[in-house]
Order: sequence, then structure tokens, then C-alpha cells
Amino acid sequence: MLKYEIVTDFSSCSDWIIGVKGKTDLNLLKNLTLDIPFISDKDFSGEAGKEFVVNVNNKRFLFLGLGEDLRFSTVQKIFRQFTFQNKDRFNEKTGIIFLLTDISVTPLSRLCEAAWQGIQIGINNIGSWKTIKKPSSAWESANACIYFYSGEAMQEEIKISLHKGNIITNARNTICRLINTPGNYLNPSDFALAIEEIGKDAGFKVQIFNARELQKKGLHALLAVGQGSKTPAILAQLSYDGGQKDQKHIGLVGKGVTFDTGGISIKSSTNMHYMKSDMSGAAAILGTFQAVAKLRLPIKLTGFLPIAENAIGSQAIRPGDILSSYNGKTIEVIDTDAEGRLILADALSYLVRNFNPDMVVNMATLTGSIVGTLGNHAAGLFSNNDELAQQLIAAGNESGENLWRMPLFDAIKDDLKSDVADLRNYSGLPTSGAISAAKFLEEFIDNHPVWAHIDIAGVAFDKTETTQLKAATGYGVRLLTEWISNL
Ligand code: BES
Ligand code: ZN
Ligand code: ZN
Repeated sequence: MLKYEIVTDFSSCSDWIIGVKGKTDLNLLKNLTLDIPFISDKDFSGEAGKEFVVNVNNKRFLFLGLGEDLRFSTVQKIFRQFTFQNKDRFNEKTGIIFLLTDISVTPLSRLCEAAWQGIQIGINNIGSWKTIKKPSSAWESANACIYFYSGEAMQEEIKISLHKGNIITNARNTICRLINTPGNYLNPSDFALAIEEIGKDAGFKVQIFNARELQKKGLHALLAVGQGSKTPAILAQLSYDGGQKDQKHIGLVGKGVTFDTGGISIKSSTNMHYMKSDMSGAAAILGTFQAVAKLRLPIKLTGFLPIAENAIGSQAIRPGDILSSYNGKTIEVIDTDAEGRLILADALSYLVRNFNPDMVVNMATLTGSIVGTLGNHAAGLFSNNDELAQQLIAAGNESGENLWRMPLFDAIKDDLKSDVADLRNYSGLPTSGAISAAKFLEEFIDNHPVWAHIDIAGVAFDKTETTQLKAATGYGVRLLTEWISNL
């Protein structure tokens, strides 16, 4: 496993990557006492992703352009892409230097963190089921280490930043592995085992409620969605306590559909294989627990992950079926493919009724409608609380996980009226699908005043710099961890 170290000289290795901010004066290199000869800006422009190699005294220096925009997310992306494409070119031990004229935009510590995260994501191999393995690169070998160069003064700050970035990216890579795992290798019981294992390792509590216990508790909507599958629905409860006196208590809920066929209202086959990623919301919450627990953040977290496989079969729910739910409301199932809101409804009301946290955030790959609206550019944010919405948007801007706020128009509640039950799960209308899904969830939060629902259907599984096709992006872990650490 790749390690990192912070160093104050250049003796540790012979291979160096020098990240250069756009049009930085390369004469600054003199300050580094490296004897690098003059480089003309005709040879190296500092443009994002461009490189130029110089060999001096048995050391190799690869100049990597970072462009003028030194935002954390941009730098992380450059390193992600660069690592994926070039990891075979380096030695086990490689150093990283940043050459900047003006470090006030993004502090050096954050740039190191961005580079480290980019490298870790860039070497993360998702081809676990290939029989012919690619030979691993030097950075994947047992003794591999990345050395971050800095002056004495910045060491402590960089150390803190790298520690945080390392934990977050490990959590991100862990959940990407789960999201990329297909339905035949990750059913609800497999997912439960993975959650227990991660909880044990990271230091948070996990309790799994099986179908019998859910029946007793009355989570009928969750059970109904899972009833067509050989592996019944479960509910995972995650608990973390930062142990501080006046810490805030946050409730987190994530949609954990291990595969979504659509049920009897079956999906078309074109992109159905992507539906192995329909547990990305639950995975993002799980990753957040992993990161928060490893960072020992002073906060109390209670998480609920409703987990089910939306399968087809003689036992599956039918369109027209009427379900009861944990909070007592009855639901007419118009479309069995609108299953996410059913399982979230039970988990949300179970959370607010029994734990009443200060804030509630849920994440879900909930609607195709949000993909039509925002594409892969941002997740849809629905919130009844402006302050919470602002906090989440700010955290997302910093991490590069964009959020776009959507309305919760009350008029859309009418679309969910049923003649035979308290609610129906789908309006049957081709309009405002993501909003009506959010309005449905709102019915199950018992008027909690600080709630946000994040629809990640367009961003959780997407083309990435490190895969040929669509794959898990890890959306949400950094966003939520950043948000929580700023509270
Ligand atoms: N899991 C899907 C939503 C989804 C779509 C996720 C695309 C990722 C990419 C969800 O369960 C679903 O099928 N929603 C339906 C709801 C409709 C039947 C009311 C949809 O959005 O089409
Ligand atoms: Zn569905
Ligand atoms: Zn779904």
C-alpha cells in the first residue's frame, strides 16, 4: 500500500514531480538548490496536465502543469488523471514539489492533500474480476512511498492535511469498490457483512436488523421492496459518538438498493446494468462514517441504511398494492420502480421518531428526473432549511462535488394524493419527478425543521478519469465529511 512522508530535502529519491502553477517564473527553482538548468516557457507552459522532463545529476524532474486555477478539486483531478495514465513511469519512491508564486489561493498543505488524493484514486484498480491482472506499477508495490517536499515551517500543517486526505480517500476507495460490485456479489446480506467489517475497522457501532426484526418494528415499506428477492431487506444502524459534551447530533440516511430491476414495473434493459450502483447513497453514508470515525471528529452520528434488492418474481410487490409504513401512513404503489422513496420513508421516520437528531441528511440515487435536469454536473439538493443548504453547498464547492438547490414546491404534494391510500408513490405525470420524490420523503420526516435530501442519481456512477466506462465516483464522502468537520 502506497505511503507518504514529508521531507525537507531532496535526498529521499531520484524521481520528482514538480507541480507548477500556470505561468510561474521558473527562476524560482533556484530557491530549491536543485541545479535545474533554465527552462524556457516555450518548452513548458504550465498549462493544466502538460509536462516537461529534465534530468540533472542522476535525478529526474517531471514538471507537471497545474494551470492557473489552483482550486483543490482541480488539482486533485489533474493528479488523478496523471497518475492513472503515467503510474508505470515512476520509481517506487517519488517526490512531489509544488512551485507556486502565490500560495494564498490554496495553501500548500491543501495542494499536497489534493495531490495525494489524486494519486490514491488514480492507482485504485477496479478490475478485480479480470483473470489476467495488469502488472502492478511501482507505486502499487509494498515499499512504495510518495515524498512531499516542504520547508520546516509548513510541515505540521501538511501533516494534518495529508492525514485527513488519506483517511477520506481510503473511505472513498472502499465505497467505490462496493458500488462497483455487481448484484450477484453484493446482495443485502453481503452488504451487511461489509458494513460490519468497516465499522469494526474504523471504530463505529453497527447493528443489523433482519427481516423478522423489521416486521416486529413495523418497517413494512422497506420489507415490501425486498420481498421479491431471495435475500430479504435489512436495516443497518450505524452509531458514532465523538465523546464531546456539546457535540451536535446528526442523522444520516442512505438508499441501499443492491440492484434495481424496477420490479414488476421492469426497467428497460439499455442501462439496467448500472443499477448495481443503486446503493451509492448508503455507500456514501457508510464512507462518511468510516472517515469521521477514523478522524475522531467531535460529533454524534446516527445512520440508517435501508437495504434491499428490488427484484422481480412471484413474491414481488405489484403495482396497485397498498403498503403500510413505519410512521403509519399507507402508500399505494403505482410504480414498483419508485422503490427508493419507499425504503427511505421507513428509515427516515424510524430515525426521527426514535433519535430526533439536530439535523437530518439523506442521500439517494433516487430519480432519473434529476439526471435529466442536472445531468452529471451536480446532485440535486432539496432542503427545508436555508442554513443547512448553504453549508452543504459550500462544502461541495470546496470538494468539487457540486450541489444544485432544487425547490420543494408545496403544490407538488397534490401529485402524490391517492384515492385509496394516504399517498401514492408516483404521480404518473412526466413532470417534476425529482421534486415529487423529495415531497414524498418530506411526508416521512415528522416536520423535522433541519432536513436535506440529496439526489445523487446523476453523479454517483459516471465516466471517470480512471475508467473507460462508467464507474463509481465516490460522490458524497468528501462532501459530508467536509461539512461535518466544519460544524
Ligand atoms: N434507481 C432509480 C433512479 C436512477 C435512475 C438512479 C438513473 C440512477 C440513474 C429509481 O429507483 C427509479 O427507478 N426511479 C424512477 C421513478 C419513477 C418510476 C417514478 C425514475 O426516476 O424513473
Ligand atoms: Zn427504481
Ligand atoms: Zn432505485
